[in-house]
Amino acid sequence: MNVLITGSSNGLGRCLARKFARDYGKIILHGRKEAQLTQFRDLLNEDYGTQADMVIGDIREEETLLALYTAAVRNKIDVLINNAGVYVYGDPTKTTLADMDSVITTNMIAPMRLTLLVYPIMVAKGKGLIVNINSLAGKTLNDKEAVYCASKHGLRGFMGSFRHEARKHGVDVLDVYLGAMQTEMMLGRPGYDGMMDPDEVADVIAGLCRDSYDSLRVNEIEIGRL
Ligand SMILES: NC(=O)c1ccc[n+]([C@@H]2O[C@H](COP(=O)([O-])OP(=O)(O)OC[C@H]3O[C@@H](n4cnc5c(N)ncnc54)[C@H](OP(=O)(O)O)[C@@H]3O)[C@@H](O)[C@H]2O)c1
Repeated sequence: MNVLITGSSNGLGRCLARKFARDYGKIILHGRKEAQLTQFRDLLNEDYGTQADMVIGDIREEETLLALYTAAVRNKIDVLINNAGVYVYGDPTKTTLADMDSVITTNMIAPMRLTLLVYPIMVAKGKGLIVNINSLAGKTLNDKEAVYCASKHGLRGFMGSFRHEARKHGVDVLDVYLGAMQTEMMLGRPGYDGMMDPDEVADVIAGLCRDSYDSLRVNEIEIGRL
């Protein structure tokens, strides 16, 4: 099973990459920081004897999306994990157009675009899995998270609707709604020590990405802290 994970230089994506490199087939890493990602790729190749591929670039850029698509074709991917994301917290009246554009493009438009780019690869195989790392904020409406909520609610709407189309071609869409995790994204936030361990979260998600079941599919899952 070959897997493309966006935003796998850090946090949850990095934990997922390690599990997939260990337990499944080929992985494609992605992030903006070339040195950090190259070091991680070399480590995975050394530890697990994999030949991880990688794409460097800002996911808001069309050029990066096309490079991800090319890597997906080259590696005949079976699973796309839309994980790269950013978080914003604060007074919504202070949000600039540039901030809005950046968050909505990263968390919503980019995964939508990438999904539509790689979908034909899966359709040609007659199977595939698209995993969207969403947030509980994609279902709830939280104070001081207006733009983040908007981006994740939008992603939920697109993917929930797209699932109907994908099913016709044997492609599953799994939406993962997460509570707070101990990653860089949450550093400095109150209650950090009680947040979920991203490695445990990655365990659950990787378990759901095994080759398809015979009699069921999982459309969505909520994972929250104790
Ligand atoms: N942490 C939480 O509490 C929490 C809760 C619910 C949902 N989530 C979701 O979980 C996912 C992973 O977040 P995390 O907690 O693991 O955060 P993280 O540690 O900050 O990692 C975010 C990853 O996304 C990548 N990324 C961000 N913006 C990018 C851009 N413009 N272009 C390319 N890559 C970009 C980063 O790569 P580079 O920095 O190398 O570019 C990094 O690898 C996100 O979708 C987030 O919304 C997180």
